[in-house]
Amino acid sequence: MEKKQITPINYDNPVIDIKDLYKSFGDMHILRGVDLALFQGENLVVLGRSGTGKSVLIKIISGLLSKDSGKVIVLGEDMGNLSKRELTALRLRVGFSFQNSALYDSMTVRENLEFPLIRNKRYLSRAEIDYEVQEVLSAVGLMQAIDQMPSELSGGQRKRIGIARTLILKPEIMLYDEPTAGLDPITCTEINGLINEVQQQYKTSSIIITHDLTCAREVGDRIVMLLDGKFEQQGRFEDIFDKPKDPRVQAFYDYNFVD
Ligand SMILES: Nc1ncnc2c1ncn2[C@@H]1O[C@H](COP(=O)(O)OP(=O)(O)O)[C@@H](O)[C@H]1O
Ligand SMILES: [Mg+2]
Repeated sequence: MEKKQITPINYDNPVIDIKDLYKSFGDMHILRGVDLALFQGENLVVLGRSGTGKSVLIKIISGLLSKDSGKVIVLGEDMGNLSKRELTALRLRVGFSFQNSALYDSMTVRENLEFPLIRNKRYLSRAEIDYEVQEVLSAVGLMQAIDQMPSELSGGQRKRIGIARTLILKPEIMLYDEPTAGLDPITCTEINGLINEVQQQYKTSSIIITHDLTCAREVGDRIVMLLDGKFEQQGRFEDIFDKPKDPRVQAFYDYNFVD
């Protein structure tokens, strides 16, 4: 199944623009001259083997890690020149959906969803909070779970609530780190569908990190591959994988493709 394009993507307007980004840990040179743009309205998939620096990249984009050199512009702001206050404000506009959705086990679904609102939007009334919680739960199709505990939910449902908890702040950019990792194939397809619905309904621009090729094909408007610290390949799924010239791309495909 290939992705149908519905929202128009604005290729004149990058919401993330990265130039010549470098990042090392000691003598491990992880990112070595990364250039990357995310355009408004697009789902961009970042593929790459485990340990290639995909999570490091989106942590730099969201200000959780600092870069060594290069330029990282997010929503028009230069990440290298922000005060702590400006960075906090920017981070509210960039939603990060972590690999382990990390819900609070002792809180109900409702309380988990209220948490980011109460922390970041203190001016909201009780009625407004209730409205936002219900809106986001209906967007992820889990209204019925509102009073359940995370332990009562399936892995896929917890993933949905994790995504809802990020979405509730209405971010302009969504960063998904391995959204389908550890899920069975049917649940993967449901989560891929949800990522596409979020794109349409919330008008987000997203980076989806994965090594799941089915996920890449189902959600990606454009796909880039991180190989040895740089993006060497980009295009639509077929552009990259139909007749790969780079043996590293063929090897990645052979190793990861299960359909
Ligand atoms: N905070 C850190 N300190 C030291 N090394 C790190 C840190 N974060 C990531 N690394 C290393 O950087 C490399 C890339 O990590 P990561 O971005 O998590 O890979 P992946 O592509 O699987 O997401 C790994 O070798 C990892 O051990
Ligand atoms: Mg990772």
